[in-house]
Amino acid sequence: MNYHIAIDGPAGAGKSTIARRVARELSFIYVDTGAMYRTVALYLIRNHVDADDEQAVAAALPRINVSIAYENGEQQMFLNGENVSGQIRTEEVGNMASKAAALPCVREKLLDLQKELARTQSVVMDGRDIGTHILPDAQLKIYLTASVETRAMRRFLEQEQKGVSCSLPEIEEDIRRRDEQDMHRSIAPLIQAPDAVYLDSSDLTVDEVAEKIKALCRQGI
Ligand code: CDP
Repeated sequence: MNYHIAIDGPAGAGKSTIARRVARELSFIYVDTGAMYRTVALYLIRNHVDADDEQAVAAALPRINVSIAYENGEQQMFLNGENVSGQIRTEEVGNMASKAAALPCVREKLLDLQKELARTQSVVMDGRDIGTHILPDAQLKIYLTASVETRAMRRFLEQEQKGVSCSLPEIEEDIRRRDEQDMHRSIAPLIQAPDAVYLDSSDLTVDEVAEKIKALCRQGI
């Protein structure tokens, strides 16, 4: 039987690091759904489509082909056949993804792709609505969060490591704005599923969080 782990939580909570790690250690597939929204967002930015104009976005969607492939276990995102995995990682794309993700037509487009990936294999899937909408029957659901300050600091260090200069107050402001957008939208808002385990990673290392999730998984199997 396939085993599904859903990890939801706000921007910068460490979902992707944790989900990737847990997936590798359990030999599951890691599915990063945020990357799918980011891929749509990249198209919108490149083609100057205003994400506040729902009709314009809906009209553009048929021209956007989002596909996914795995190379050495790493998820690669393709936008109309072009590998855009590197280009979707900017704050600009993240902000556009958050806006676009509030539109029902965008969510609808990515829903099948997400469900299909879980249909035939064991996955660790991370996002905002995985436990609540995409995999409501997941055997294990985690709501992973951390304080705004911790999340901003993690993002700041991540960017610095990549050699991108940035300001901590700006990143913090960005995170607050994204939280507001993701938690208060009318469609698929970020909320903790009633049966999800709440994990605050503010004072935990990556190892500790990964171990906790694997222990919960073992209890469930
Ligand atoms: O890595 P980070 O948390 O910054 O963002 P992400 O997971 O790559 O997702 C980018 C944006 O896509 C988020 O701010 C959400 O608004 C949206 N998203 C969503 O609505 N539903 C998902 N399942 C995944 C992402």
